[in-house]
Amino acid sequence: MTDSVLTEIDHVAIAVRDLEAAVAYYRDTYGVDVDHREVVESDGVEEALLKVADSYVQLLTPVRDDSPVAKYIEKRGEGIHHVAYRVKSCADALARVKAAGHKVIDEEPRPGSRGTTVAFVHPKTAFGTLIELVEE
Ligand code: CO
Repeated sequence: MTDSVLTEIDHVAIAVRDLEAAVAYYRDTYGVDVDHREVVESDGVEEALLKVADSYVQLLTPVRDDSPVAKYIEKRGEGIHHVAYRVKSCADALARVKAAGHKVIDEEPRPGSRGTTVAFVHPKTAFGTLIELVEE
């Protein structure tokens, strides 16, 4: 625990078909409002971030048919898509994953939404969960 690279849960991402319906569900059922909305062209998604304490629920919907999230929904249906952890340094955390011999999706950190720096770790060597490392 003393040298944990993961400082907080940044967000849990949920893939949905209808972003407006999902936003309305969280607002009407739990009273949670949208904190931030953004279309991330490079990933082919639109996201709505709902703040829960110091973390977010990230509702994700595809904006193009060739988006990885579109393929995900087609194959597996709606549901949890990835878990994002906050890290002090995305580059350092990613280097650690690679040094340990685990598979990554992003070889180098790249820009994420909200001006963050992110990298994705492959679910194959992460016990079936797509992991995102987020540096604010
Ligand atoms: Co994410």
